[in-house]
Amino acid sequence: MRLILIGFGTVGQGLVEIFQQKAEQLAASYGFVPQIVAVATGTRGILHDPDGLSLDVLLQAMQAGGLQHYPDQPRLRREFSSAEQLIRTVDADVVVEVSPTNLQHAQPALTHFQAALETGKHIVTANKGPIALAYPQLRTQAQQNGLQLRFEGTVMAGTPVIATGMELLAGCQMLEARGIINGTTNYMLTSMEGGMSYEAALKQAQDLGYAEADPTADVGGWDAAGKVLILMAALFGKTVSLQELSVEGITAITADDIRAAQAAGERYKLIATVSASGGSVRPVRLPLADPLAQVMNATNAITFRTDLMGDITVIGAGAGRQQTGFALLADLLAIQRISVSK
Ligand SMILES: NC(=O)c1ccc[n+]([C@@H]2O[C@H](COP(=O)([O-])OP(=O)(O)OC[C@H]3O[C@@H](n4cnc5c(N)ncnc54)[C@H](OP(=O)(O)O)[C@@H]3O)[C@@H](O)[C@H]2O)c1
Repeated sequence: MRLILIGFGTVGQGLVEIFQQKAEQLAASYGFVPQIVAVATGTRGILHDPDGLSLDVLLQAMQAGGLQHYPDQPRLRREFSSAEQLIRTVDADVVVEVSPTNLQHAQPALTHFQAALETGKHIVTANKGPIALAYPQLRTQAQQNGLQLRFEGTVMAGTPVIATGMELLAGCQMLEARGIINGTTNYMLTSMEGGMSYEAALKQAQDLGYAEADPTADVGGWDAAGKVLILMAALFGKTVSLQELSVEGITAITADDIRAAQAAGERYKLIATVSASGGSVRPVRLPLADPLAQVMNATNAITFRTDLMGDITVIGAGAGRQQTGFALLADLLAIQRISVSK
């Protein structure tokens, strides 16, 4: 499988590390032999080699500061004006899109998706923007061209919630999905339950690398809201805008609120809810018997409410280099299975 990697930061490099570690197992168990023929970054260079790029040398080049440190090869090319031009010119099977997320206009990823679909390439992504804002159109375009558009990594990294909701539970009617889909805020609420103030919990989450220096997207509920848009599209086929969601973060939750919930045998969680009638993100006091109330620290979870199977809860990591790299691998293996069965 020939791959073009768009974005070569935490997640892109995480995928390449998994390819290195598991090359033998992937070939022996699944007949899966990935070949990276091109890589694009924003500011650290673009490479194309139709003979395939060396995984070791790619990672070494990034450690040295960028793809300019990748040594010349007989058929290596570096002169591309943009990732879009790379996708349009290079022959490959799949574009793996892991450039930065933008939830206002989805660029530059949306342009990359268009280029991939117009030149007959499957797409695998962890980038929330295009899926949140344009999934129905992209899916139609992919289907019309016989292409796969897979996005497991956009919600809860490699914990399989997209595949569970869209594929494994197909045949059930999906009534609702509700969950904890932001690790930073769940970590903070757990720390506050242990007696920390909001400010101390936020500082700790930042020190551990869970929260950004500007934590607004997490604590304001907007990161979770972006994932609500994806779940709306994936599970209910609906596109809504962020403005149509009811979004409340955890900024108003105090240590006193947490203690009051504890005293009543309940626990505060930032709960995202999605159904055919809409979506929301807000702090909710859950009874301890609710499986979501037992999800602590940076762990995430989603409960799918269905007609035939009742409630099914999937619990696991919500982010991370290896965990999101795995999401991309899982999607690539799914494409491989579909291609082989044709
Ligand atoms: N990290 C996680 O745990 C996680 C989890 C789930 C989903 N995601 C999503 O996965 C994607 C990648 O995340 P990340 O953590 O790997 O981000 P990152 O470390 O910031 O890496 C982003 C990469 O994209 C490149 N890039 C920027 N603009 C580009 C452009 N116009 N064309 C091509 N490449 C471009 C960057 O290059 P420069 O450095 O040269 O600008 C960098 O190589 C994001 O959409 C993120 O939301 C991440």
